[in-house]
Amino acid sequence: MDDLDQLVVRAQQEFAAAPTPAELENAKARFLGKAGRVTELLKALAPLSVDEKKSRGARINRAKESIEAALLERRQAMAQAELDRQLRSEALDVTLPGRRIGDGGLHPVSLTMQRIEAIFASMGFDVADGPEIETDWMSFTALNNPENHPARSMQDTFYVDMKDEQGRWLNLRPHTSPMQVRYARAHAARHAGADPMPDIRVIAPGRTYRVDSDATHSPMFHQCEGLWIGENVSFKDLKAVFTDFCRLFFETDDLQLRFRPSFFPFTEPSAEIDIAFNSGPLKGKWLEVSGSGQVHPNVVRNFGLDPERYIGFAFGMGPDRLAMLRYGIDDLRLFFENDLRFLLQFK
Ligand code: DAH
Repeated sequence: MDDLDQLVVRAQQEFAAAPTPAELENAKARFLGKAGRVTELLKALAPLSVDEKKSRGARINRAKESIEAALLERRQAMAQAELDRQLRSEALDVTLPGRRIGDGGLHPVSLTMQRIEAIFASMGFDVADGPEIETDWMSFTALNNPENHPARSMQDTFYVDMKDEQGRWLNLRPHTSPMQVRYARAHAARHAGADPMPDIRVIAPGRTYRVDSDATHSPMFHQCEGLWIGENVSFKDLKAVFTDFCRLFFETDDLQLRFRPSFFPFTEPSAEIDIAFNSGPLKGKWLEVSGSGQVHPNVVRNFGLDPERYIGFAFGMGPDRLAMLRYGIDDLRLFFENDLRFLLQFK
């Protein structure tokens, strides 16, 4: 191996040993640069004869070409390695299943509300929504709770330290019963010319509030009001409607209803509705599911209707209680703790 062959081998070795493109360029300068080994060799031709210059020059040029070829090869290998590294680090496995957004699910109380709404809608009831911040007049006065009457303190109301434009105190509604008044007044006004007025038949589900908190009471809870007013609506209709509702809601005909005398200022007579299942885990136990009664004449008057002509019934039930019975839940607080281990069972 002569000195030129050795030079080519050295260049190949140094190029191969260069760990980075920058170091490869330094190595190139050592061989092919202005002060590099090849240039030096060419300069050293000067004192030689023309023939010697020709043969030695040609051999130097071949060596130079070999060195340039080695350089090019090493550059390409480096670029390829860099590309491979990038492809590996940014690799996408297109065969992996995509990430899905969780489906979510409805809260058991929402499911119960929807169920109640669907059943009453199927019986021809309208479904109405109303404000959770109410006036004192709607929550109490219009419902035959006279001002300063002790019956007002039956409910531990959250009062708001604020009045509406007409100077009426505001509260967080302690029941959905004010919706009887709101809906009936709007209905009466809408059908002012009609004789007879079409029946009022509505339920009003929603949130209600009282200063109350234990295993069976929460300061925010749900109610569903019901109201049917017409020329000839009686307790018999209440019993029929509520029996149908219970059978559909609990998906069994194997239950009984009982009307237990009670008192509410806005109904006369008033009754608690109890149900008992004839079979199943709750067999034989009377469970209170709703307040009810024949709407008091003073309340019908506040609807803007003539109590001598229009009569009917109202009821107010607790969807939270109904959900607990339907699903066999024994602590109301589970509904509001947002524990996924509980909630996912209803998905
Ligand atoms: N508002 C009553 C309560 O919260 C429930 C109630 C009882 C509603 C009798 C009614 C009714 O419509 O007729 O305790």
